[in-house]
Amino acid sequence: MKTSTAFPIASLVLRASAAPLDISTGRVTLQLNIDLNQDAFNGANAFAGAGADQLFAFSSMHFIEATPDQVVNGTELTGGLAGATGQFNYGINVDANMICYNISLNNFQGEFDSPATTATHIHEAARGASGPPRIAFPNPEPVDGDQAVRNSAGCLKGPFTTGVLVDGVDSGEGFHVSKIEEDPAAFMTDVHSSLALPGAVRGQLA
Ligand SMILES: *[C@@H]1O[C@H](CO)[C@@H](O)[C@H](O)[C@H]1NC(C)=O
Ligand SMILES: *[C@@H]1O[C@H](CO)[C@@H](O)[C@H](O)[C@H]1NC(C)=O
Repeated sequence: MKTSTAFPIASLVLRASAAPLDISTGRVTLQLNIDLNQDAFNGANAFAGAGADQLFAFSSMHFIEATPDQVVNGTELTGGLAGATGQFNYGINVDANMICYNISLNNFQGEFDSPATTATHIHEAARGASGPPRIAFPNPEPVDGDQAVRNSAGCLKGPFTTGVLVDGVDSGEGFHVSKIEEDPAAFMTDVHSSLALPGAVRGQLA
């Protein structure tokens, strides 16, 4: 899923005006006018346009529910890691070739296990198919010592490396996040466990 709207705090115009003091009653009337700048709501550029009051501007955001039933080995469903789920949330800045991530895993079990540098990835693969990792993210770590709840959050910028060689070349080499925005359905995100090597949970970006 892709969203590109944001609440345009910068465009909220607050106007407070006090009416003259009414001596006879000692009351002050306070009138508060809130003007919403409708331009800021206009379409896909609203988010990027809000840049002045935010540290990171995203050209797109992707919120992915990852589940075991989407995992395949080749094209064969494996069932993944039963009971595990993941929320993989991404914000992309195409101009900076940057991707910010906030990944939560529930009920992950086993060890993180992958030939790549980490076991948490975005792969170039259509629904029901397999394909090479393009970005490797830090593996989520237990939150407050709770192994059942894990999280990782941060940002990565290209050039990307995954540690996986395809025809002698790192599968992240030359990758640009614009490819994800051009065709999110061609990408999936997942995490691999020693108990479910083809993937514990997986979700398609669109
Ligand atoms: C994936 O499938 C291949 C056969 O296509 C098999 O050789 C391999 O062991 C499977 N991998 C896992 C981890 O199940
Ligand atoms: C990650 O998302 C969760 C909500 O799913 C939020 O509570 C948490 O603060 C976020 N982490 C960061 C670093 O923004």
